[in-house]
Amino acid sequence: DDPRIRSIQSKIRVVPNFPKPGIMFQDITTLLLDPKAFKDTIDLFVDRYKGKSISVVAGIEARGFIFGPPIALAIGAKFVPLRKRKKLPGKVYREEYDLEYGSDCIEMHVGAVDPGERALVVDDLIATGGTLRAAMNLLERAEAEVVECACVIEIPDLKGRDRLNGKPLYVLVESQ
Ligand code: PRP
Ligand code: MG
Repeated sequence: DDPRIRSIQSKIRVVPNFPKPGIMFQDITTLLLDPKAFKDTIDLFVDRYKGKSISVVAGIEARGFIFGPPIALAIGAKFVPLRKRKKLPGKVYREEYDLEYGSDCIEMHVGAVDPGERALVVDDLIATGGTLRAAMNLLERAEAEVVECACVIEIPDLKGRDRLNGKPLYVLVESQ
């Protein structure tokens, strides 16, 4: 397999019991500190998506804002931020999703994406899949075509992939 993938994996710091007991936090800030590994991460996505007629990269606040924009620039797509509650000033689509305790929501500006546009959804990590599912719903309400979801890390035990309505998910590394 690709040595870049092993290098990327080695730069992700795993922090036990953060932010609460029992959680193995996957910390991508250590990956960002290594310019080669950060660039390899972006390049792997760009190589996969360039030439695929993707006109929209949608990134999920906050950590999807780190990886989405460089991919968008490199493939010549626009970047659409999917933001947490009440951060966007215009008319929005809103999707609520469940967390372990309570719920959260993400919003997208109406008109940011046109019907029929081909979209890539980017985030740092898929755990339960609730966040990516909400993001896909936003794009589908705007009548965009979600081509794929892309994350740096998947936590396979949580089976978030199964919540994506059969849409393809591409990840670089699996958490241990
Ligand atoms: C984390 C992570 C993903 C999401 C994955 O974001 O960045 O967006 O959780 O979880 P899920 O697959 O179970 O939905 P978080 O909401 O903690 O906030 P942040 O990105 O703003 O740090
Ligand atoms: Mg997030």
